[in-house]
Amino acid sequence: MSLVSTYHGKHVLITGGLGFIGSSLAVKLVRLGAEVTLVDNLMPEHGANFFNVRSIKSRVTISLSDVRDENIMAYLVEDKDFVFHMAGQVSHVLSLSNPYPDLDINIRGTATVLEALRKYNPKGVFIYGGTRGQYGKASNPAKESDISQPTGIHEISHLAAEQIVSTYHRIHGIPAILTRMTNVYGPRAQMKHDKYCVVNWFIRKALTNDTIPLFSKGKIIRDFLYIDDCVNALLSLALTKTAYGEIFNIASGKPTSFLALTKTIVTKAKSGRFVFAPFTYERKAQEPGDFWADISKIRQYCSWQPKTTLSTGIKRTIKYYEKYHSHYF
Ligand SMILES: NC(=O)c1ccc[n+]([C@@H]2O[C@H](COP(=O)([O-])OP(=O)(O)OC[C@H]3O[C@@H](n4cnc5c(N)ncnc54)[C@H](O)[C@@H]3O)[C@@H](O)[C@H]2O)c1
Repeated sequence: MSLVSTYHGKHVLITGGLGFIGSSLAVKLVRLGAEVTLVDNLMPEHGANFFNVRSIKSRVTISLSDVRDENIMAYLVEDKDFVFHMAGQVSHVLSLSNPYPDLDINIRGTATVLEALRKYNPKGVFIYGGTRGQYGKASNPAKESDISQPTGIHEISHLAAEQIVSTYHRIHGIPAILTRMTNVYGPRAQMKHDKYCVVNWFIRKALTNDTIPLFSKGKIIRDFLYIDDCVNALLSLALTKTAYGEIFNIASGKPTSFLALTKTIVTKAKSGRFVFAPFTYERKAQEPGDFWADISKIRQYCSWQPKTTLSTGIKRTIKYYEKYHSHYF
């Protein structure tokens, strides 16, 4: 099934649409001929950035509003074929000092969008952007059927939201798909601070010829996914009817150490350096240990697979921020 023929003329709502993943989805969907509406409340310390959508500004509708607003959400979901829900409090570090945005936006905000769908558009396909953090300490490679043991409020809020989405699918028949995305990186991510989007933060450090601190001698393993692969996975899943009610890892499936990641970044940027550093309190408190994902389920359901190697993804990301850094940091 081609993405162009399927999304052409479709009405799509993207929450968190000015942020990293939301705006990247929007750019691709506009290219595919979809009628796209973005909703974003420009949350402080988050990734909302008008520069992210500069190339499609005249071809999208932007609603600067909050997903917790029942009236606005009722109006916005009404005629939509697809709703990609990417709005949220994103940082597990921020949730340590203030858990309320996670509880309020990630849980109540998700329920508000679903209630709007239930009342005004129960056939609209809902795609939830969850996180690999929901697994907590994982037995790698983590499978969707594994037990979740989240280590912090942020991850708990995503898990609770996921279960709310499941309930709306089961009880109210909303065609919903649940995703758990790994560490996504690439163009359009915020680079103002180090509270989330670690790969982009390391790239900023390298581009400004700074020192990148590596905990645990860089041995911790993660699964890093380039944004274009993430967008293609979300778009492919949304078209897969057998995926309704199911949970999917969206990841590269490849274990990579922070040391290997950082060496790639410093080599490609031709600047910056790294140093081994002790864990800070807030990082240690919620560190779940190594993580990489099993991606056989998404491969089986919609034939998606990641195409961008880490080296190519890092190279493309560096190129983007070398050109546009003044819009990000
Ligand atoms: N980036 C990653 O690596 C990653 C990995 C796993 C899961 N996720 C999840 O994906 C989603 C999107 O993340 P992102 O990286 O694009 O972050 P981002 O900060 O770039 O985008 C989030 C957007 O949501 C908006 N927002 C926040 N609260 C809102 C509200 N109440 N109403 C309307 N808009 C609101 C923000 O202003 C921001 O533009 C989040 O739920 C995040 O937890 C991201």
